[in-house]
Amino acid sequence: MHYFKYKGKRFHAEGVAVEKIAEEVGTPVFIYSKKTLVRHYNAYDKAFKSTPHLICYSVKANSNLAVLKTFDELGSGFDIVSAGELARVIKAGGDTSKVVFSGVGKRDDEIEFAIKKNILMFNVESPQELRAVDRIAGRLKRKAGVAIRVNPDVNPKTHPYISTGLKKNKFGIEMGAAIEEYVYAKGNLKNIDLMGVDCHIGSQITQIMPFTAAISKTKKLIGTLRKEGIDIKYLNMGGGLGITYKDEVPPHPAKYGEAVIKNTKDLGVTLIFEPGRSMVGNAGILATSVTYTKKGSTKNFTITDAGMNDLPRPSLYGSYHGIVPVRLAGGKGKPEMVQGDVVGPICESGDFLGQDLKIEATAPGGLLAVMSAGAYCFTMSSNYNSRPRAAEVMVDGKDYYVVRKREKIADLMRGESMPQGLFKK
Ligand code: LLP
Repeated sequence: MHYFKYKGKRFHAEGVAVEKIAEEVGTPVFIYSKKTLVRHYNAYDKAFKSTPHLICYSVKANSNLAVLKTFDELGSGFDIVSAGELARVIKAGGDTSKVVFSGVGKRDDEIEFAIKKNILMFNVESPQELRAVDRIAGRLKRKAGVAIRVNPDVNPKTHPYISTGLKKNKFGIEMGAAIEEYVYAKGNLKNIDLMGVDCHIGSQITQIMPFTAAISKTKKLIGTLRKEGIDIKYLNMGGGLGITYKDEVPPHPAKYGEAVIKNTKDLGVTLIFEPGRSMVGNAGILATSVTYTKKGSTKNFTITDAGMNDLPRPSLYGSYHGIVPVRLAGGKGKPEMVQGDVVGPICESGDFLGQDLKIEATAPGGLLAVMSAGAYCFTMSSNYNSRPRAAEVMVDGKDYYVVRKREKIADLMRGESMPQGLFKK
């Protein structure tokens, strides 16, 4: 569900014509709908209202400060994976006591920063990390909240790059070893508060079954831990709920909620969720201008001013994003259609936003909207080919605001130098 649609022939983000934003801010530009963000958060929150829960929006999906502030205002916590993400949460006014810290490679300085900022807990992913958290908390004379992220060996049936809950993935600690770690920590690591079990199995999951399979394994674990005298207060289910890019039919948060509640109701825990994509994915589009159109003998190309550096998902995962014209063709009768690839200006054949799409024919200067671009698009964008990163805009009803300025050419070289010692002149 989202608030992007045609009003007459013009594509709108809530009450604002995308054309107007493109004219005034330039392209490529990411456009987020605040109303959609709020709706998605509330749908999730409502799904779990009958049970103690904490939603920790997964910052990696879209870390723009205005997005974070929107969720903070709704009462959200945050799932972070770096000191940089924690700094963003703090800057946005987020409540650090609702922050959970995931990731396999947290450095000492990041652990220290997070302890000093009083986060709720670390999702610990290895025995060495567990000891590092204990050591650093001890040095700071503090007790650090911890959940061990378990690897339940459940197949989330998603793209291999975003599946995380299989033994062959680098994430989490296998079930058996996790029990040993909890017991060891209880006896030996005095600067740790063992408060939770964490289990994130992957992303863009479109079925309920992998989640319930993971729950049944973690439930057993919680039972075993309680027998060992370890009082688990939180069960963190991670994120992973999929969205519709093309024809996927992921469960609505309400259905997901029903299944999770049914399977966890006797546990007496607070549930934590770390949704990213399902919060922001369909709340954003990327507006881009057509630079040229080119007819080949086997393919037609629409060349846009956005490329794989702006929106890397199609190149990286072969993902589909719908592409629609910002202004529908005028006149009567059927518009001329073109079948082909929508490609960027980057010097790589893998630089495409869409392949073999059938779209309304456009001319240079025409505008296209790449759909479902709110999650893992701007955050994964880069300066490849020395291209400044796009601007970001948030729409709220009839108004829009630039929430990140377009980078300038000078920004690309910030911090670089040509030290005298290296060169003769
Ligand atoms: N929690 C943890 C520990 C995670 O690793 C992730 C995502 C999430 C929560 C949020 O999952 P979500 O609700 O967004 O599915 N770049 C890829 C997606 C990578 C997901 C990484 N982890 C893509 O563009 O599809």
